[in-house]
Amino acid sequence: MEERSRRKEEHLEAVRRLPDGPRSPGWEDIQLLPCCLPELAWDEVDLSAGLGGHELASPFLINAITGGSPQGLELNATLGRLARELGMAMAVGSQTAALRDSALEESFRVARRENPEGVILANLSAGATLEEARRAVAMLNADILQLHLNAAQELAMPEGERDFRGWSEHIRGIASGLAVPLAVKEVGFGMAAEEAVRLAGLGVRVVDVGGAGGTNFVAVEAARRGAPAGDSLLNWGLPAAVSLLEVLDAVGEQVEVVASGGIRDGVAAGKALAAGACAVGVAGPLVRALARGGAQEARRYLVGLMEELRTVMVLTGSRSLWDLRQRPFLVLGDTAEALRRRGVDLDRYARRGSI
Ligand SMILES: Cc1cc2nc3c(=O)[nH]c(=O)nc-3n(C[C@H](O)[C@H](O)[C@H](O)COP(=O)(O)O)c2cc1C
Repeated sequence: MEERSRRKEEHLEAVRRLPDGPRSPGWEDIQLLPCCLPELAWDEVDLSAGLGGHELASPFLINAITGGSPQGLELNATLGRLARELGMAMAVGSQTAALRDSALEESFRVARRENPEGVILANLSAGATLEEARRAVAMLNADILQLHLNAAQELAMPEGERDFRGWSEHIRGIASGLAVPLAVKEVGFGMAAEEAVRLAGLGVRVVDVGGAGGTNFVAVEAARRGAPAGDSLLNWGLPAAVSLLEVLDAVGEQVEVVASGGIRDGVAAGKALAAGACAVGVAGPLVRALARGGAQEARRYLVGLMEELRTVMVLTGSRSLWDLRQRPFLVLGDTAEALRRRGVDLDRYARRGSI
């Protein structure tokens, strides 16, 4: 097996056995105000959402995981079927390897074959050229292209990239030259408002904050090498809840914002959606669910996320995601402390809606 394919299988193996964290993503610091007079029936709740100009039956995004290896083919086939059945968007993992070796294309294409009408996101590094971006999109007939920003992960890999110059210009070129909308994501270390503003200025249509507190690629890379987990960068990054709220505050009116990083249940998803996220991305738990019990267990997990979100919507009196976005919530603890220091006005969330 080629080195890159082997690395992908090792990532899957490490994510199966490692816990999230060690930091908290901070979702527990967000408290939605309960509505004890919901005046709603469970069946009336509408989970429909939008991403990059496409309508979705559910606001969950099966985030980029893999491809380019035998396990990747199986995983993308299974997740493609689930995305279709549940009306979720799905991103494939980085397609760089398949751009170099066409024999690997099938392990990505399978996601489209299993889900001909669904919303599918292609995925490449922000170092990609416009030509590569076009090929990655064409490979899947993708609806959106995701570019990942993963400097911390690369630096945690002895064989990783060491030169991060030129990403902004690549992003600008791809945003203006590509026929489909461009999404840019972090992979678990979080995005600060400053860069979200720069990305919006480069023409990016969707940003995915990919905050800290879920899958931790410093831990994953250490585990792959068999190195002790005491890496000083294990706590690197901006927790997901902080990242989401500061990015929404800075660019929420200009671009769509996806919440991801340590979203593990439908309650955390409800909080992120109430804050203003257009969709919620999940990756690590799907790898673990597939390892525990295959497609059936992954389906059970995803259906559980939707049911919990529906519960949160009933309990906040929200018929739609739009209603949920009007509902007040409190931001407490370390998340509030960090956001206040960053100048984000949290009182408007605490007082919004009609009293
Ligand atoms: C095994 C694995 C492989 C991943 N590979 C990619 C990738 O190829 N491209 C990418 O943009 N993100 C990749 N990610 C990052 C996820 O898309 C996501 O941003 C990150 O895991 C945080 O979400 P989580 O806490 O729900 O796992 C990968 C995640 C996992 C668990």
